[in-house]
Amino acid sequence: MSRINLKIVGDSILRKKAEKVEVFDESLSKLLDDMVETMIFEGGVGLAAPQVGVSKMVAVVNPEPENSETLLRLVNPKITETGAETECIEEGCLSVPGIRGNVIRPVVIVLEYQDEKGNAAKMQIDGIVSRIVQHELDHLAGVLFTDRLSFAKKMMIKGKLKELARRTKQE
Ligand code: NI
Repeated sequence: MSRINLKIVGDSILRKKAEKVEVFDESLSKLLDDMVETMIFEGGVGLAAPQVGVSKMVAVVNPEPENSETLLRLVNPKITETGAETECIEEGCLSVPGIRGNVIRPVVIVLEYQDEKGNAAKMQIDGIVSRIVQHELDHLAGVLFTDRLSFAKKMMIKGKLKELARRTKQE
């Protein structure tokens, strides 16, 4: 396994819609392995492929990074149902370092995805797992959590976001 450098806000790949995975091969398993290693190294609870420079519908989620039993490896994930109840929780993102903010999202979702062999799976999730999955699926659509902040909060972080993007574009 090898760790991959993260893409930071300002990189255009974070704004692209990720492509559906059609080939379930060795390189897909390797990508998932590398993403898990990168997520653990960076101290995150979720990571989407565009964040490591790969515009594919792949994400890893683990609310307990040290516990392999709570790890989800998601290929072509999609939310097929959302509950009516919403909640407001503070989020952060490895691709938006130094910024956190409250985001309103549905509590319960039904998630459909494939595993790395292409087998279909479906589950209803809530709590922190649901929250992380929704954040990562946003990444696959080119959406960042900062897009979902209140207008006032967006104004507050505007300068910081611009500075992050400026540094990214210099690299
Ligand atoms: Ni993120």
